[in-house]
Amino acid sequence: MITPPALPINPQGSPLRGVRGQLLTFKDDPFLKSPQECYDHLADGLVVIQDGRIIDVGEYDKIASKYPSLVDVDVYTDSLILPGFIDCHTHYVQSPMIGSFGDTLLDWLDRYTFPTEAMFKDKEFADEVARMFFRQLLAQGTTTANVFATTFETSVEAFFEESERYDTRMISGKVLQDRNVPESLRDASAEESVRVSERLLERWHHRGRQLYAVIPRFAPTSTPEQLRLAGELYQRYVDRGVYMHTHLYEAQSEIEWVAQLYPDSQNYADVYRRFGLLGKRSVMAHCCEVREEEWQMLHECGCGVAHCPSSNLFLGDGEFRYWEAKEPGRPVTVGIGTDVGGGTNFSIPRQIGEAYKVAMLRNHSLDAVRGFYLATRGGAEVLGLGDTVGSIAPGYEADMAVIDLKPSEFAEWRMKFTTDIFDRLFVLTALGLNNLNKATYVAGRKVYDRDRARQYRYAAEIDASRVI
Ligand code: GUN
Ligand code: ZN
Repeated sequence: MITPPALPINPQGSPLRGVRGQLLTFKDDPFLKSPQECYDHLADGLVVIQDGRIIDVGEYDKIASKYPSLVDVDVYTDSLILPGFIDCHTHYVQSPMIGSFGDTLLDWLDRYTFPTEAMFKDKEFADEVARMFFRQLLAQGTTTANVFATTFETSVEAFFEESERYDTRMISGKVLQDRNVPESLRDASAEESVRVSERLLERWHHRGRQLYAVIPRFAPTSTPEQLRLAGELYQRYVDRGVYMHTHLYEAQSEIEWVAQLYPDSQNYADVYRRFGLLGKRSVMAHCCEVREEEWQMLHECGCGVAHCPSSNLFLGDGEFRYWEAKEPGRPVTVGIGTDVGGGTNFSIPRQIGEAYKVAMLRNHSLDAVRGFYLATRGGAEVLGLGDTVGSIAPGYEADMAVIDLKPSEFAEWRMKFTTDIFDRLFVLTALGLNNLNKATYVAGRKVYDRDRARQYRYAAEIDASRVI
């Protein structure tokens, strides 16, 4: 198993909880090492949880006897317990316009996205959307996401407030955009926008499990002055774990526009670099057309990349080339993003299915070992959380998804013709099912249960009823 980080001390001797069943977790990067060395697969595993963290994992027969006080155990059959999925790039504020009829990226932003985002000035609307968004994520087994809000403080508040209710580990922040967006969405000034960001950062960063990101939407919607101030803000807080999150190289028209707006930059990545926006926990969504010198730059700066295949297909953008990102001499961390509402669903396993197809267009095939790595530990590495979430191992936060290996009559029948767990996982992603996830655990609490009368529960309700 993965070498455990220092375990938390538990002076109160809080009760132990357990989750038992077939289990899969990753401990290394199968793009860089032999895949068989990179995961642990237990036929009948037991996860022991205390105070929201995993304190032990192993085959049930080997470790259960160590915990005589462990009576509260959820047992899953015909299932697979996985680390909760990690969505490295999405926009909760686009939930109301997901699936809007096609257009190219820039027209789609103008026609559907910006008018929708302008509605988030209204806190009640933002609250409603945040509520719905979290339910979609948790239903799909996603437990951590790196999420764009929009211009307004209200949109950030609504997001983090809902995240606190579930005690999810989430990353979000105010979107910085002071040009080339409608006035209703535009920041009044670069200075004010960064002041508001800093205020939100101070309120929310490391409050419980919440983390803050400085988010210039993308180079065309910020003035150079806003990018400069955003870079300064990020640099002031980067050593305290703050993120930078933006888009890079998504669509051809965008790429040409950036070249016109920033003629002095060597390339698109260099626009962000010059303003101090590349570094640890800088996350770039899309990266469809990155050149070798830019991969070098992203590698050297320690940036991560979110591959968003559903969105790239829907908007007809381009094709992310994981084999270039993962070049062993200068690998860049890669995770999966749904990019809702460019992406057309909230499911990370469905993204894996789409990522496979995108790679196939370029004569590469993404197997289930590497796909599920990207969806869990790979995503955690992108977010600088590789020792916190994304794996099922002692010391990690107890965020888990429980996948149904027989989610439909047909899937159950199809499974008869599979040989091993990765074969099964591959079939499930290829079928693109939307009801794959049975249960979702967040900090050890079962916040979503597909088969429970009330499927969703907030952390405080669970604590009050003392049921996981
Ligand atoms: N580039 C800038 N803004 C956006 C957005 O909202 N969605 C996508 N897919 N790309 C963008
Ligand atoms: Zn996006």
